[in-house]
Amino acid sequence: MRTQVAIIGAGPSGLILGQLLHKAGIDAIILEAQTPDYVLGRIRAGVLEQVAVDLLDEAGVGARMHAEGLPHDGIELLIGGKRHRIDFPSLTGGKQVMVYGQTELTKDLMEARAAAGLQTVYEARDVSVHDFDSDHPRVRYVKDGASHEIECDFIAGCDGFHGVCRASVPQNAISNFERVYGFGWLGLLSDTPPVSEELIYAKHERGFALCSMRSHTRSRYYLQCELSEKVEDWSDERFWEELRRRLDPQAVEALVTGPSIEKSIAPLRSFVAEPMRFGRMFLAGDAAHIVPPTGAKGLNLAASDVRYLSRAFIDYYGGGSAGIDHYSARCLRRVWKAERFSWWMTNLLHTFPDTNAFDQKALEAELDYVVHSVAGRTTLAENYVGLPFDD
Ligand code: APR
Ligand code: PHB
Repeated sequence: MRTQVAIIGAGPSGLILGQLLHKAGIDAIILEAQTPDYVLGRIRAGVLEQVAVDLLDEAGVGARMHAEGLPHDGIELLIGGKRHRIDFPSLTGGKQVMVYGQTELTKDLMEARAAAGLQTVYEARDVSVHDFDSDHPRVRYVKDGASHEIECDFIAGCDGFHGVCRASVPQNAISNFERVYGFGWLGLLSDTPPVSEELIYAKHERGFALCSMRSHTRSRYYLQCELSEKVEDWSDERFWEELRRRLDPQAVEALVTGPSIEKSIAPLRSFVAEPMRFGRMFLAGDAAHIVPPTGAKGLNLAASDVRYLSRAFIDYYGGGSAGIDHYSARCLRRVWKAERFSWWMTNLLHTFPDTNAFDQKALEAELDYVVHSVAGRTTLAENYVGLPFDD
């Protein structure tokens, strides 16, 4: 078998890249270890930057997102029992974000791929990448007990944090940067109307809480929790009770509770691997970096990487090499800004057990500055809606 680009992983990175390459007439095969249902069953964030919305339009998969997604003009910060609204359009020259679940987006991308008759091999076992330091990279996998090999021009490592691509790079060729936070988010999804029109990020002495949504009838809530917590110990009742304690009276009154349809705990982590290119293999999305969810940047960074990567391949097949040569540096510039923002939002809004009295006071002053100064609000808003691309 031969293709131009072998894409490993059918999460958002791999699927968006596949769609962009298809639009450009570049041939690609996607190999995915899991089943389509498994991929769709993972509940993840749902806030898209304007530039990600534009990219999905460019990829030809924006129709349902525009019909069913919720454009948001701001977020609310609930600090010390008081709400502070960050208004995006007035602070960023008219920008918004789009609330649209990653599950829905993944479904749209899968359907577009199937409709175009493009090849995705699900349940591809023992995927391995070879010779990416030469001009003839190859990918091997096992499907239904039979071994296969794909010859390709490039390998796109879109296989997430635990994927095989980054793990196949010699240790001396890669640098890892990591920060762990020592706590997690306990998330609950329910078919109940959202507590408020906009997302509420709540800082509370009992821990951070977030009120988010997927639609007018589906809500997503999170509570900062200890890593030692077990989901089984959190009945729906206990979750709702704890959420109420971290919200203001207005939200408590408006909160509609109901049975959960999903509950899970995810640890918070910041991680970046550098560089993002190894010869003819390129990493994109969670394969190269992880952000804590506080800034809602995970999916947006995946989109941003594959935007650069698709342009790099288009450039290459048009006779240029600047795109692939600059891919890693271009991505990392934007990645590190989103890493910084996510780390900053996390530090600002969560409760850390080891904060000393001085740091606590300095943090309170910073929060006061952020919400009461136009410059402070602008910094938050322009990062939240997404920084511009280099090109
Ligand atoms: N072979 C083939 N596929 C693999 C392998 C492997 N060895 N290892 C992992 N995969 C698949 C996973 O099953 C998954 O479907 O790669 C895909 C990676 O998808 P994601 O983890 O969703 O990563 P990405 O596409 O980069 O999307 C990033 O999604 O994970 C969220 O929070 C993250 O919002 C961010 C976005
Ligand atoms: C979500 O809806 O899951 C969500 C929204 C905003 C975040 C993180 C998660 O910052």
